[in-house]
Amino acid sequence: MRRVKIGIVGVGNIGSAHASTIYSGLASTLELCALCDNDEKRASELKEEYRDIEVYSSYEEMIDSGKIEAVIISTPHYLHPVIATYSLNKGICVLSEKPLGVYTLSLKEPFEAQKKTNALYAAMLNQRTDKLFIEAKKIIDSGKIGTLIRNSWIITNWYRTDEYYQSGGWRATWQGEGGGVLMNQAPHNLDLWQYLCGMPKRIYAVCNEGKLHDIEVEDEATIYAEYENGMSGTFIASTGEKYGTNRFEIVGAKGKIVLEKGKLLCQYEKNGEEYKIEYSDEEYNGHLNILNNFGEAILYGKKLIAPATEAVNQLILCNSAYLSSWKGEWVQLPFDEGEFLELLSKRVKNSKAKGTQVGTNLFENSYKKKWSTNW
Ligand SMILES: NC(=O)c1ccc[n+]([C@@H]2O[C@H](COP(=O)([O-])OP(=O)(O)OC[C@H]3O[C@@H](n4cnc5c(N)ncnc54)[C@H](O)[C@@H]3O)[C@@H](O)[C@H]2O)c1
Repeated sequence: MRRVKIGIVGVGNIGSAHASTIYSGLASTLELCALCDNDEKRASELKEEYRDIEVYSSYEEMIDSGKIEAVIISTPHYLHPVIATYSLNKGICVLSEKPLGVYTLSLKEPFEAQKKTNALYAAMLNQRTDKLFIEAKKIIDSGKIGTLIRNSWIITNWYRTDEYYQSGGWRATWQGEGGGVLMNQAPHNLDLWQYLCGMPKRIYAVCNEGKLHDIEVEDEATIYAEYENGMSGTFIASTGEKYGTNRFEIVGAKGKIVLEKGKLLCQYEKNGEEYKIEYSDEEYNGHLNILNNFGEAILYGKKLIAPATEAVNQLILCNSAYLSSWKGEWVQLPFDEGEFLELLSKRVKNSKAKGTQVGTNLFENSYKKKWSTNW
């Protein structure tokens, strides 16, 4: 069976995991053909570990090598759309780590490139393959719980230690990471929040920066959302609670779904009778599922589980929550992307990113060189 020839740019924590999954043959639709990391030490380690795989320090060289037809981007966030644009323009299919970028305006270029060459553009939103959420979606779509009236997700079990935040110069800084819990840990949940409940019409958010750790970005966030149909929603995330909670309630006019501790409980009423659906989570490998789906989409035209056109929604939620918190106001969707970028740029300029020489002018168009630094 033919496998898609794939390369990985950014072979740190998660890039290494993707590399070994593919190299071991576990991802049956993909063949690892190239690796790229601009950290010299990391690149030489990779040469030792993967002796039969070409290792590059420049992603442009890897993309232009003719050795790959698809790429996984697992670098720090700001680089995602830059590398995606370069790849898509050359007709190379892209599987980007989440988030697709730090600010929605940075996605204009990759989307334009995608339209030009028609290469696939997908996101590693691995939790979309968790059956618990798939079951919840089926129940909502079946109409069993009726029109949605309220939702509430407390997702405070993203606990991170101070050591974690010190582990990489780009972490927890506006300049390096571009945000905190909403940008790095909770994108999966923001995505699933909109996947199950839809996009709100306006939100109000309070994002507490450096409340629980000595960091400049938010480590606690509360979003209040209002939807077109009158539904209200809350989303609370934190990286500072050792005994965190993960409880998602979706309430409809005729019933309710609760997702907690790997279990789904749905109670609903039909023709005066009470019904109950219970479902327990199964072991699953979300990363592998997304990798294989990406390969099948390229090889056989299978529908992408997480196309970039949908993955952008979690970034819209994240950016508009920041905008609301920074201004202390409700933000209507679609939000003012230019205003968001202006306020983000101010934070980037004052950022105390450790060991990064990333440029600070986010407005400049040709940021290719600027972001190709040692993080
Ligand atoms: N989907 C998931 O479950 C999941 C899990 C962890 C991380 N992530 C995401 O993956 C991305 C990477 O996170 P990480 O924890 O692996 O970070 P990391 O710092 O461990 O790895 C990033 C790697 O990118 C390399 N790099 C930086 N600039 C580069 C450039 N210009 N060219 C080539 N390589 C470059 C660095 O040297 C480093 O090895 C982030 O977007 C993060 O949000 C996703």
